[in-house]
Amino acid sequence: MTPIPVNTPDLSEADRRAVFECLESGWLSSEGPQVSEFEALFARTVGREYGIAVSSGTAGLDVAVAALGLGPGDEVLVPSLTIISCARAIVGVGATPVPVDCDWEDWNVHLQRFRDCLTPRTKAVMLVHLYGLCSDLNPILAWAREHGLAVIEDASQAHGLRYKGEICGSFGDISVFSLYANKVVTTGEGGMVLCNSEALAQRCRSLRNLCFDSAKRFWHKELGWNYRMTAMQAALGIPQLHRLPELVQRKRVMGATYHHAFAGMKDFHIAPMSTQYAENAYWVFAMVVAQDARFTREDLTKALATQGIATRTFFYGLHQQPALLDEGYIDRVSLPITESLSARGFYLPSGLGLSPQDQRRVIDAVHEFVGSHS
Ligand SMILES: Cc1ncc(COP(=O)(O)O)c(C=O)c1O
Repeated sequence: MTPIPVNTPDLSEADRRAVFECLESGWLSSEGPQVSEFEALFARTVGREYGIAVSSGTAGLDVAVAALGLGPGDEVLVPSLTIISCARAIVGVGATPVPVDCDWEDWNVHLQRFRDCLTPRTKAVMLVHLYGLCSDLNPILAWAREHGLAVIEDASQAHGLRYKGEICGSFGDISVFSLYANKVVTTGEGGMVLCNSEALAQRCRSLRNLCFDSAKRFWHKELGWNYRMTAMQAALGIPQLHRLPELVQRKRVMGATYHHAFAGMKDFHIAPMSTQYAENAYWVFAMVVAQDARFTREDLTKALATQGIATRTFFYGLHQQPALLDEGYIDRVSLPITESLSARGFYLPSGLGLSPQDQRRVIDAVHEFVGSHS
């Protein structure tokens, strides 16, 4: 039986040609003109002034948090249900991540939960748009403004997602996309930092490039990182980005097909196709095995695996991570919704290269498994 990976990328002829032409041009490093072209195109696509290409979404978060000048004594509110990169960036500057529980409805964090965690030390809030949806952002943005909090928007998973018609990635003081191979727009590995402030953009560029002194070569008054993106990655990103509307449309067709196939099955909780303010962009098709289901997530994912169908579990909560707890970076707390989602959530093969036949196989396998438990 042919395996169905959890993500199969889809590269067009134009994508391949762009990388080949880049190689032919002799440009390999971040000095290549492909990088600044990609940065400008990305910024324009999201409606921001400046784009700073980096080597990953994780690197982008490191740069974003550092560029905002956050540091020891500062608390940053962050959804607990997210990748470790979010906390890593905060701990990396000596600030304290404060993991916040999310909501059942769309697995994102809404205002009240951030509000409950506000202290006099809170200096920033990180908004992470998770698994194809976002929360109600305007109230959070207004509240952050009222309290003088910086907003870091992690739109790593949110290519093509819109909140009330406006593009996600355009809301934070600084925002970050991942361009990893499983993202809607990919450069294999890569990331993009976006902002509207020239000073902030300059700061990001410097941090990305080891904080080289602009006047005195190889002189460093501060430590940065080498988080640069190669010309070949940028060359791939350009035609990918041109295809964004088409790619998002295809994700939505995939998502709708899964949604209709599983809607009404009481053993699962699936995210809505749309909320009052966002249409699911279906970065992945995620589902949660109900508490009172007749099987566990592990029963199901193991059964799918025997048929060659790969799945991926949800993140663990940041508040559960030994790397944060054992070093005392965060306090021990209980965040029941995150814990529950993390124990029972998973996603199905959702890559752009998933054929309709393979998607049918996945749907049939899930139905067959559930049927065998009724
Ligand atoms: C919400 C979120 N933030 C950040 C990242 C990190 O991106 P990268 O894998 O490019 O480092 C990811 C990766 O999937 C993510 O899902």
